[in-house]
Amino acid sequence: MIPCKMIQVLLSTIFFYYSSAANPSYINVQNFGAKPNGKSDCTKAFLSAWAAACATTQPATIYVPAGRYLLRNAIFAGNSCKNKAITIRIDGTLVAPTDYKVIGNAGNWLKFYRVTGVSIYGGTLDGGGAKLWACKTSGKSCPKGATSLAFYNSNNITINALSSLNSQMFHILIYGCQNANLINTKISAPGNSPNTDGIHVQQSSAVTILNSRIGTGDDCVSIGPGTSNLWIENLSCGPGHGISIGSLGWDMQEEGVQNVTVKTATFTGTQNGVRVKTWARPSNAFVRDVLFQHVVIQNAQNPIIIDQNYCPDHQNCPTEGSGVRISDITYQDVHGTSASQVAVKFVCSKTKPCSGIRLDGVNLTYRNKPAVASCANADGMASGVVQPTSCF
Ligand SMILES: *[C@@H]1O[C@H](CO)[C@@H](O)[C@H](O)[C@H]1NC(C)=O
Ligand SMILES: *[C@@H]1O[C@H](CO)[C@@H](O)[C@H](O)[C@H]1NC(C)=O
Ligand SMILES: *[C@@H]1O[C@H](CO)[C@@H](O)[C@H](O)[C@H]1NC(C)=O
Ligand SMILES: *[C@@H]1O[C@H](CO)[C@@H](O)[C@H](O)[C@H]1NC(C)=O
Repeated sequence: MIPCKMIQVLLSTIFFYYSSAANPSYINVQNFGAKPNGKSDCTKAFLSAWAAACATTQPATIYVPAGRYLLRNAIFAGNSCKNKAITIRIDGTLVAPTDYKVIGNAGNWLKFYRVTGVSIYGGTLDGGGAKLWACKTSGKSCPKGATSLAFYNSNNITINALSSLNSQMFHILIYGCQNANLINTKISAPGNSPNTDGIHVQQSSAVTILNSRIGTGDDCVSIGPGTSNLWIENLSCGPGHGISIGSLGWDMQEEGVQNVTVKTATFTGTQNGVRVKTWARPSNAFVRDVLFQHVVIQNAQNPIIIDQNYCPDHQNCPTEGSGVRISDITYQDVHGTSASQVAVKFVCSKTKPCSGIRLDGVNLTYRNKPAVASCANADGMASGVVQPTSCF
């Protein structure tokens, strides 16, 4: 038997070794002057903590203790960062300035640019967007609003157990990134807050969104041009506009969307369920290889929709037809209720009809009565129980 004393000594030696070895790379933002009172501007302190982490080469942790930290818009740049393993552990809440004009024209509130191997664990972002939404809804001229958290041109990103509340605009943006994992994300904004998309992914590959709960005033997840190998699993969405691929095809030269999987998702009281939306404009973009699987939709206006005629007020659409080619879209095990009679709507392009649309086990009802499917320029096949009866 090893005597207790010896174990104690052993343990304290190990503890001493780890704490001293880890110290240089354990960075508490309060040591850089951050004050958790929600009133003192902590932007400089956070940027200094970031610079300190970037200057080391060993894995580093930036720690944000409990409390509220006021931050203006900030860019955490990775261009000259030596560190490829920075963890930001947040027990507190980061709050945006009360005056929405401070960050309202900055594009982004917290922006990570060209970083590699950054992980964020925990924490809450409070965008305090209500006053800006009120300005927008009143029709006055107001700033566009800032995205709360954005990653641009970055690789190997993890965001785990982060909450984002009431962003001025998009809550999270992943743009030009490779390999980003968003897990246990909670996003919340009122159903009538304008442009508060949950997660927007664009020009990015290998993005995974797991176990997330998103309620917003716009798309829960929106998928822009140049997205490939996107995996969304176990998403709960509502309120909001659902999951949207698009709007695509604004530009003639535009990258397509490819290999998107949405597996196990519930939509509750959303405007749409799963949507693909393209501008009625010439474009060489495309959408292909998309799977929507194990989806439950409750009371959505448009549970399943492809809309290639998007052109508000018929402005800026010279040909009134979409050039975006849509193919190989599968809806498998999708059931629930529709708030309108047309539960399945495929309005595809005249010039480039949709092809390879597959319905496999779809059951959507409308007020306990059969719903209707509506097709234009759409080709595909149905298998298993498909209700409403497909219109191919
Ligand atoms: C990202 O992670 C993968 C696997 O862990 C690694 O092979 C790759 O080099 C990393 N990418 C960058 C840019 O560090
Ligand atoms: C799905 O995500 C929720 C969080 O939104 C989580 O509580 C639940 O355990 C997840 N389900 C599975 C099967 O992982
Ligand atoms: C599609 O994307 C998934 C990740 O979402 C990836 O595992 C798979 O290899 C991709 N398939 C192809 C054919 O690239
Ligand atoms: C479709 O769903 C409704 C409501 O859940 C159910 O009553 C009906 O039996 C289902 N239809 C088929 C063909 O499975």
